[in-house]
Amino acid sequence: MTWAEWVDGESARIHAAGRWRQVRTWDLDRLVSFASNDYLGLSTHRALAAAACDAAERWGTGATASRLVVGSRPVHDELEAELAAWKGAEAALLFPTGYAANVGVLTTFGVEGARILSDELNHASIVDGARLARADVAVYRHLDLDHLALMLAPRSVVVTDTVFSMDGDVAPVDDLVALWKTRSKASRKPSLPARTTGQARAQLKSDRERERGDGKADLKWSGGRAGS
Ligand SMILES: Cc1ncc(COP(=O)(O)O)c(C=O)c1O
Repeated sequence: MTWAEWVDGESARIHAAGRWRQVRTWDLDRLVSFASNDYLGLSTHRALAAAACDAAERWGTGATASRLVVGSRPVHDELEAELAAWKGAEAALLFPTGYAANVGVLTTFGVEGARILSDELNHASIVDGARLARADVAVYRHLDLDHLALMLAPRSVVVTDTVFSMDGDVAPVDDLVALWKTRSKASRKPSLPARTTGQARAQLKSDRERERGDGKADLKWSGGRAGS
């Protein structure tokens, strides 16, 4: 089969399944988008735009290479220190996108011999991170702790979105952590809620309550664009 034949066949299959998607262009001066992750409208916030312009003037428009190769700028360290203080964490590490965070964290902890347990409705970037990891991967039914309990292994990494933004429901993070702890007493592998920072006031409040709770997860990270 040639590539052209494969492309024709694949396009026909996707169309027939009603799953053809196309990028559209919108003039956002003329409409309000409710589809974005920019819940707080920060992407167009004047102070942030001014700070971004200032930073570009001062530090340039890119990091020029990975931090391991060319090092950080002081602004990176300052931002990480502030984020860690805000989250009450020992330290913070910036990733450029939520996708990069999920792939980076899961490939780091999803080592050979471990098992990644992932909610079936997790974000696509978590699915990709799990696929790239060396660990064995198992998927549990959405928010189903009984199903998860059947799959927990001594060296498990449980990963879940905190807020499932497509369905609007929230993972029982405390219960997940408690379950993981009862089953993983012998080992100290982390349980990992991938979470979105600053989505909405109510969510923030419940996030903070969760963070204060006994069921504190061993590792947390936040995905999503600026403004989400
Ligand atoms: C849980 C989660 N992880 C990752 C992402 C992807 O983030 P980004 O678009 O910054 O790569 C999203 C975006 O909505 C998300 O909700």
